Amino acid sequence: MQTFKTIESLQSALGDAAGGTLGFVPTMGNLHAGHLALVARARAEHDLVVVSIFVNPLQFGANEDLDAYPRTLDADSSALIDAGCDVLFMPCAEELYGDNMKASTLVRVPELGTDYCGASRPGHFDGVTTVVAKLFNIVQPDAAYFGLKDYQQFSIIRKMVSDLAMPVILHGVDTVRETSGLALSSRNGYLTPEQKTLAPLLYQTISSIGEALAAGEQDFMRLTQTGKQRLQEAGFQPDYLAIANATSLRPATKEDTHLVILVAAFLGSTRLIDNLRISV
Ligand code: PAJ
Repeated sequence: MQTFKTIESLQSALGDAAGGTLGFVPTMGNLHAGHLALVARARAEHDLVVVSIFVNPLQFGANEDLDAYPRTLDADSSALIDAGCDVLFMPCAEELYGDNMKASTLVRVPELGTDYCGASRPGHFDGVTTVVAKLFNIVQPDAAYFGLKDYQQFSIIRKMVSDLAMPVILHGVDTVRETSGLALSSRNGYLTPEQKTLAPLLYQTISSIGEALAAGEQDFMRLTQTGKQRLQEAGFQPDYLAIANATSLRPATKEDTHLVILVAAFLGSTRLIDNLRISV
């Protein structure tokens, strides 16, 4: 695996290797089996696999965990070598944004980005779409792989690619979970042992809602209120729990057939998210 820190050195290596197809997996590092599932898909489907590790300051709010975000480069590098990654791109913030971050161009998908995580993390998705658009321009992949665990993020990136006619095929990869059902996440590492035993309730709660919807229940308000109460009583502070149209992310109506149950909740100061897609 070759590692590059500058756009110029990366592009010159990619130019030399031109010929086959290129699959790209953008990440913020601290890699776990969820990230590696994306790399495995890219490996199976492309001649060249490029992974980026960049903890993107633009998508972190002032009170968020940018400085504390886990940086585990040695472990990440060996995991990527084992997963068959060809090229690791790990730029610093100055390389991507120069010294004047305030003046940077922003890419924004307002329609899908204002609710749910967008409401509690203002500016977050603008940071995501801006960096992903820039990484696409730098790497120029044929295809890019994202986790469906971050369903709103995936929906927003899909809309950006479609609206701006970006020449890249997007793949959404199913969420990798622990046997308890807990979705793998870099933030799980912040949980105390006691919180870790509580955490699987997040997936259990949306799974129960999914079963009720599959059985024909259409009182969305009752389902989400009961779910929130269940989480609260167990010690979570729910941020949102919603049933939405799986494409528009607008609140579900009785006519919708493709739904997504979206949840975010705090355990102590750790914010966990999960979702479940369901067709009724
Ligand atoms: P990060 O949180 O590092 O996640 C990188 C990719 O891994 C994302 O597409 C995410 O959805 C996926 N992923 C995370 N946990 C997963 C799991 N349990 N199963 C499957 N896939 C999982 O998401 C970001 O970074 C950033 O916002 C980024 C897109 C890199 C832009 O900075």
